[in-house]
Amino acid sequence: MPQFNDTELTAAVVRSFEETPDPRVKFLMEELVKSLHDFVRKTDLTFDEWSYAIDFLTRVGQKCTPTRQEFILLSDVLGVSMLVDAVNHREREGATETTVLGPFYVGEHKPMPHGADISAILPGERMFVQSRVTDLKGKPLAGVPVDIWHADDEGYYDSQRPSYETEGPSMRARFVTDADGRFFFRTIVPRSYPIPIDGPVGQMILQVRRHPNRPAHIHFLVDAPGHEPLITHVFFEGDKYLDTDAVFGVKNELIAKIEKRTDSVMPDGKPASGPWHLMTYDFRVKPGAGAAPKPMMAATEDA
Ligand code: BEZ
Ligand code: FE
Repeated sequence: MPQFNDTELTAAVVRSFEETPDPRVKFLMEELVKSLHDFVRKTDLTFDEWSYAIDFLTRVGQKCTPTRQEFILLSDVLGVSMLVDAVNHREREGATETTVLGPFYVGEHKPMPHGADISAILPGERMFVQSRVTDLKGKPLAGVPVDIWHADDEGYYDSQRPSYETEGPSMRARFVTDADGRFFFRTIVPRSYPIPIDGPVGQMILQVRRHPNRPAHIHFLVDAPGHEPLITHVFFEGDKYLDTDAVFGVKNELIAKIEKRTDSVMPDGKPASGPWHLMTYDFRVKPGAGAAPKPMMAATEDA
């Protein structure tokens, strides 16, 4: 009968993966066990602390629903999502920077015609967004689907509102780039918002005296065939949370200047009903492959 002390135990558990057929799975399991065991040794973890951790993770899992992903939130606030992003995107070669997907890529992203208002006429300051998708040499890419989603004027996503069940999506859509790689739409200016604080992850953030806020942004998922899917946001210059984003997702290149306009027509020649904002931001994608994530719920609908 083997007797293990605290260091021999790690070697024994690592050996237990010897027969794992997939070498990558074997490597990941071994390294995970080594890191977890190091954590326990380094911290002299008590029984109470370990059972608190298990209870916390249980509550994280129990909070998940088809439209709520508390585990993604946990990964985001611990900086793991941005670390995975960083190690997978070391060489951008001029491509647009990437950032977290976040937990609100849900439901249907309806294809909409250029110029459409995706806000379902919700209250808020009006904004016109114009953009272009090119390759690394600046050549426009036509026919590229671009999914967009953002929070409303009070900092909520549609899926966080009870009306989502009856009224369906708003402030989320799909546009397909035209022959010049362009797409444009109308919406409202999103506000900065707190990550959901009614669950275990938000409670943990408040307990450690961190603020839960994200600077205002619009999410973009650009899925050009023959190119790496681009998952990113565009943030707004001047937002007070740019330096302390709760999920560490801001990169300087992703901050856009939003212009205040009073012209009576918008860039597509249609009338403006009052003052409006203009956001112009272009995306450059990198040759490569990879499957873009599917929105939660939509993924199960397809299956
Ligand atoms: C978001 O931008 O939608 C988001 C990202 C990470 C955590 C919470 C929200
Ligand atoms: Fe967001």
